[in-house]
Parts: sequence; C-alpha cells; structure tokens
Amino acid sequence: MKDAAPQTFYLSDYTPFGYEVRDVALRFVLSPSATRVHSRITFAPNPAASDKTFFLHGEQLKLIRAAINGAEVTPNITPEGLTCDVPDSEFVWEAEVEIAPAENTALEGLYMSNGMYCTQCEAEGFRKITYYPDRPDVMSTFTVRIESDLPIMLSNGNPGETGAGYAEWHDPWPKPAYLFALVAGDLVGHADTFTTKSGNQVDLNIWVRPGDEDKCAFGMQALKDSMKWDEDVYGREYDLNTFNIVAVDDFNMGAMENKGLNIFNSSCVLASPATSTDANFERIEAIIAHEYFHNWTGNRITCRDWFQLCLKEGLTVFRDAQFTSDMRGEAVKRIHDVIELRARQFPEDQGPLSHPVRPEQFQEINNFYTATVYEKGAEVIGMLKRLVGDDAYAKALDLYFDRHDGQACTIEDWLTVFEDATGRDLAQFKRWYSQSGTPRLSVTDSYQDGTYTLTFKQSTPPTPGQMVKDPKVIPIAVGLLGPNGDEVQPTVTLEMTDAEQSFAFDGLGSKPIPSILRGFSAPVVLDRDTSAEERAFLLAHDTDPFNRWEANRELARTTLIAMIRDDAAPDEAWLEGLERVITDTTLDANYRALMMSGPSQSELAQTLHEMGITPDPDAIWTASDRLGQTMAERWEAHLPGLLAESTVTEAYRPDSHQAGQRALGAAVLALQTRLDRGASARAQFETADNMTLQLSALTCLVRSGNDEEALSSFAAQWKDDRLVMDKWFGMQIAATLPDRAADRAKALTEHPAFDWKNPNRFRAVFGSLSMNHAGFHRADGASYDLLADWLITLDDKNPQTTARMCSAFQTWKRYDAGRKAKMQAALERIQGKDGLSRDTAEMVGRILS
Ligand code: ARG
Ligand code: ZN
Repeated sequence: MKDAAPQTFYLSDYTPFGYEVRDVALRFVLSPSATRVHSRITFAPNPAASDKTFFLHGEQLKLIRAAINGAEVTPNITPEGLTCDVPDSEFVWEAEVEIAPAENTALEGLYMSNGMYCTQCEAEGFRKITYYPDRPDVMSTFTVRIESDLPIMLSNGNPGETGAGYAEWHDPWPKPAYLFALVAGDLVGHADTFTTKSGNQVDLNIWVRPGDEDKCAFGMQALKDSMKWDEDVYGREYDLNTFNIVAVDDFNMGAMENKGLNIFNSSCVLASPATSTDANFERIEAIIAHEYFHNWTGNRITCRDWFQLCLKEGLTVFRDAQFTSDMRGEAVKRIHDVIELRARQFPEDQGPLSHPVRPEQFQEINNFYTATVYEKGAEVIGMLKRLVGDDAYAKALDLYFDRHDGQACTIEDWLTVFEDATGRDLAQFKRWYSQSGTPRLSVTDSYQDGTYTLTFKQSTPPTPGQMVKDPKVIPIAVGLLGPNGDEVQPTVTLEMTDAEQSFAFDGLGSKPIPSILRGFSAPVVLDRDTSAEERAFLLAHDTDPFNRWEANRELARTTLIAMIRDDAAPDEAWLEGLERVITDTTLDANYRALMMSGPSQSELAQTLHEMGITPDPDAIWTASDRLGQTMAERWEAHLPGLLAESTVTEAYRPDSHQAGQRALGAAVLALQTRLDRGASARAQFETADNMTLQLSALTCLVRSGNDEEALSSFAAQWKDDRLVMDKWFGMQIAATLPDRAADRAKALTEHPAFDWKNPNRFRAVFGSLSMNHAGFHRADGASYDLLADWLITLDDKNPQTTARMCSAFQTWKRYDAGRKAKMQAALERIQGKDGLSRDTAEMVGRILS
C-alpha cells in the first residue's frame, strides 16, 4: 500500500495561477541518459489571481541551476515541484535541469523509442521535462532549440534556423505546456503540401523509421481530406506553415495533437493493404482527422483545467464522427459507434468506475481519458445539435470560435455560447455533464380515435457518489409506420424533460408501429416490451437504417437470452426475416454484414446485467456458438453465392464499398467454416493478397481450433513487422476457444517476441484476453491471475498503461460468487503490491469500492 494518502483534486477548488507566462524559450541538449534542458521564461504577476505563490511543477528532474533576472536563486524543491521568492513585477526565470530520456519507461515526458527521442506531455508530462506551471490555463508562445547529431529534429510551430547539430522552431500561437512536443531521430519523411482556402501553402510531412516509407500515403491523404473538410464544414483553416506527423512504436495512447507536430502510435498512422485491415484503414483515417481537428477544438480553444477534458475531446470525437460519416456513410458509422458505446461506455457508466462526462474529482487525470469523457462526451454534443437544429448548431460553433479563440475554457463557456446563439435555457441539459450513469427509458403506447400516444418514463440508477438523479432532457427521435410499412410520421424529435411524459400524434387512420430512438438519439437503455412481430415488422420496413439494424439486434438479443436462460431454440420467424435481409442484394454489403453480426458475448453479459440477471459466461458462449451453428446450417445453400458476391475483383482499395464487401465475406466465411471444417478459410488464407482477407481467414481457423499450421506460417511471413505481429499475438487469444485463452496468453508471454514494455504488444496479449469473454472469465480464475501477475510487473515500468488495463476487472461485481471472489482476490493482490503507482492505486481502489 501507499505510504502517504494520495492527493485528490477537485473541480470546485479551481483558482488561476498567480503569474502569466509571456514567453518561453527552451534549449535541449539531447543525450540518452543526461539530456540538459535550459529554460528561459518571462513571468508577470497575473492581475486576476489573488494567490501569488510561485509554484512550478517539476518531477524527476535534477536541477542544475536556477536564476531570476540573471541572479542565481535556490528554490525550495519537493517531489512535485518548487517554490521560490520572486519579484512583484515582470521577471525572467531561467533554469537548467537534467533528465534521462533513455530511462523513462513510463512514456510520459521526454523518452526514447528505438533510438528516437519523443515526447508525450498531455496531461501532465511537461513537468517531467522542466519546471513549469504545467496547467492548461497557462498559455504562452514557445521558441525551441534542439541540439543533437540526429538528422531530424522537430518541435511545434514553424521551422526556424537549422544548422549542423541544431534546429530551431518557433510557435507563434500561445499554447499550454501539454501541447509541447519534441522529436529527434533518424527518420524519413513522406512529404506533400496543402493549400488552404485563403491561399497559404502548408508543408505536410509524415515522419517514420526507415523501412516504413511505403506506409504513409494513406495517412497523408486522410490528413489532406481532414484539412479540406474542416474548412468546408466548420470554416476552420490551418494556421502554420508546417504540419508534421511522427509515428512512434512505443506510445501509451492512440495519438496526440501537439501544435503543428502530432505524434502517433505507429499503429494509428502506418497503413498498407498488405499489412493493414479495412478496419485499420478506417481507424487511421478517423484518428488523423481527430488529431487534426484538435487544432481548433483543443489547441486554439483549450481547456481551463483537466476537469473540462470533454470540452475538447467530446467535441473532437463528435467532429471526427461527422467526418467519417461523410467519407464512408452515415448509417454504418452510427451503428459502429453505438456498438462501441455499448461495449465500452455502458459497462463503465454502470459500474464502479462510473463518473460524469465532466468529472468533479480525480487523483490521477490519466485515469479519466475514458469512454465516458470521449464517447459519451460526443453523444452529448450530438444531442445538443439535435435539440437546437443544424443551423443553430453551426451558428453556435461560429460564435464559439469567435468568442473563445486563444482562451482556456469551461463547459459553462461552451453552453453559454449555445444559449446566446439560440436563446435556449440549457440549465437542465447541463445535467448530461454532471450526472453519471446510463438513463433507462421505458415506453408504453395507446391508440384511440385517431390519436396515438407514447408515454415515456426516465430514471437513472444510482452511481458511486451520486445516489439521486434528476430528470434530464432527452431528445427522442421517433417516426411512425403504417401497417403496410409506409412512413405515416417522418422522424420528429420529442423533447422529454420530465420524469414521465406523454406525446400525442393526431389524425392517424389506424394504430401505427413506432420506431423509437431513431439514430440512437440519446445514450440511454431503452426498455420496451415489444412483440417479436413488431420487431420483425421494423426489421422488414423501418425507414431509419439505424433502427432497422436495431430491430434485428433486439431480436437477436432476445433469442440469445432465451437460449441462455431457458435453453430455448433460436427464433424461427426472426431467422426468416434476417435471411431476407442478408440475401437482399439491393442493400449495402456493409449493412448486411452488420446485420449478420449479432451481439457480442460481453454485450449479452451487459444486457443480462441490465435485466438484473447474473451473467454466466459459459452459457453465453454456448448459446452464441449454437446460434452460429444454426445459421450456418440453415443458410448453407446461400453461403457459396454470398461468398462469391462478396469477392472483390478489382485491385484493393480501402474504401467503404470494398470494405463492406469484405466484411460481408468475413461474416459468411465464419459460417462456412462451421460447415467445411476450415477448407474455405484455408483456401482464402493461402491466396489472400491483403491483410483483411488474410486475417479474417486466420481468425476463422483459430475459431475452429484448427490453426497451428496457419499461425506458424503467418508468423514466419510477418516476423519482422511489429504491427502485424501485434495482430498475430492478439487475434489468436481473442478468437480462440474459451478454455484455451488463458493458456495461450501465458504461452505467448514466453514467446521471444513478447516485448512487454511495448504497450501495443502488452495490449495485444492482455487486451485480447480480456475481450475473449468466456476465456477471460474461465471459472478457475486462470485468466484473472495471469492478468494480475502481469499488471503487477508492468506497474513499475508503465503506470499509465497498467492503470488503464485494470478496467478489465470493472464488471467484477456482476458475476457469480465464485468468479467475483477470484476477481476480488486478483484486485486485492494488485492493490497490495509494494510501491504501487498512484495511477493503478486509484483505479483498483475505485473498482473495489
Ligand atoms: N489528446 C489525445 C487525443 O485524444 C489523447 C492524449 C491522452 N494522453 C494521456 N496521457 N492520457 O487525441
Ligand atoms: Zn482527442
């Protein structure tokens, strides 16, 4: 256990810093174990602050020298930073510190990856580089000089003077320290240019390790598409002469929006048809867009403090989702996002880690880069847009950029912009930011004399620290269908504000069939006792593509739950309806593939939990497997035709059209594998000329248990490609039979290529183990123990990734007594580790509470 009680930070404690920073000049003399960082910072008393304590954050720094206005000073140093007596008017602070990037395994601050220097400062990494007021509301211009003998040296802003052994950079836009970045290494660039709509030419570059040059073209196109889209849709132009992206193999997260110098986990930028799947391409495009869009929503307008993280993240996720919809199709993107929301955010929001979209307290902010802040944060913006309408949303965003450019803002600022632009009172809407938990929405209907009435009730179960919930504003998009399937009421948004509320539709000739929560217009659990006939009708006729998919999903869920609980047979009528959809060649292949993929095992566990039933992972696995077998046998005659139809004959393109065909093909191949013991999958595996086909075939072989040969030939082919080998590690654990998952994961930790200090590789093994639902929850606790052992090992090196992976245990309380006790023991073992990091201690403490 920790010796000192960890400090908790509260939103309500906010006070501005006592000093403004007028300018920052940094000089780095790079060396792996003794980098010198010289800083020269102009401070001036902040007239808006009453507390004039001069405290600079600083951790794990060796102070060599400090001076104020040229005279040496001796500050008072603690493990968190320093204080010093300073003049009461503008002054120049200088410091020289020494740091050891080669020993930095936490990957926070300045560290090394394969001989390359790079930084990650968000949220609080800059304090590991030098002494500074490391808080987002302190903004300044930066000038940086890097000295080393490495060929490429990059920082934020525009390039300045460069010579033998040094490079200078100047960023004219005031920014908080978390957006600082530095990269130095032996890198090759993939260059291009973009001309902004006002005619500025921007030099673009993607920097990678030698050998990866051929994996940059797609990312570059995604960048240019993003730059154009932000101009067209939000009127936002790029504001520097240069935009650099760097790919790094060792990175805790996906990517980082440092001003003018985005740093990416190499898995989120490098792409080629031979090594990346369609899903990889789509994700890379979205992340490049996300980081680029931060230039306005995050960088030009930043957050006042870390409690406001959703101000930039929720909005930027919302914007990247809009971009992907425009690039690849709205319905499919929305369905993917809702699947993800239910898989990742709902369990978080309904368990011990539940927190508001804007948290009010934390110990370690890195633990709050969550699905709630990001994805629910984006849902909240989608609701706001739906409530005010598209035109008002555009007007409000213009006002936001206009009013707050150059500022560090709060959610209050954001909502005030919408109130001013629309005249609406958003006090009740604000509860979406302050109340945690997933609202439940139940609905009943009645029909009389041409009037159809829908009555809704909302309630939100208690969450940690929030026992009582007030009603929220819920936008409920509804359409009505007549008995012949015609839409008699096009989509309208009902605005629910009370705990219970009715909405009437007049002038209807007969009782309509309602399509409720179209487009998933609010992140809620919808409870409605709908008959199977009505759902089947919606599956056949709903004009809203999301709800048509949802009707099928509901039917699949219902049947699976009956199979799990009562050993029922799969619902015949549903399978007939679904058969019509998947063989309907007028429908988009992507959409049909989504229809074929039923709820995952963890989604079923989540649904059972929402119903108040203890999920049994083995029963869930058995039912899912049985349903797959039923579908395969039932549709045997269709499978060859569907496989042929989904075969792409043109050259590989990572666009949504081809990706849809391959997704349909993969769903069909999974069924076919159940019938031919892997013959088709093996054939596809052997002839595949792109990673999507190769990996989907290998996944089928792994699922069928007949995989040794294919796995070893795949490894032999790709042993030198780190990103492909991550897939190899991950998929064989995620897709294997449940009783083999733990042993496989354990064996793979002994594989010579298991580099556990690399977060991608660690996650490939243990993220996949936790995604194999029944495998992770093996009744004897083997997976729990294995994961706990490795989290204890990793915590010393990399607290951030360790803490994040603890969330595999977040649902522990919902399982049976045996599993629960084993997960609790695993968590307590982690908690009891000597010298446990603050990150992991907070996560485990919250999960256990
Ligand atoms: N701002 C980055 C993004 O959303 C994520 C950085 C997360 N960093 C962290 N240490 N938690 O694109
Ligand atoms: Zn972001």
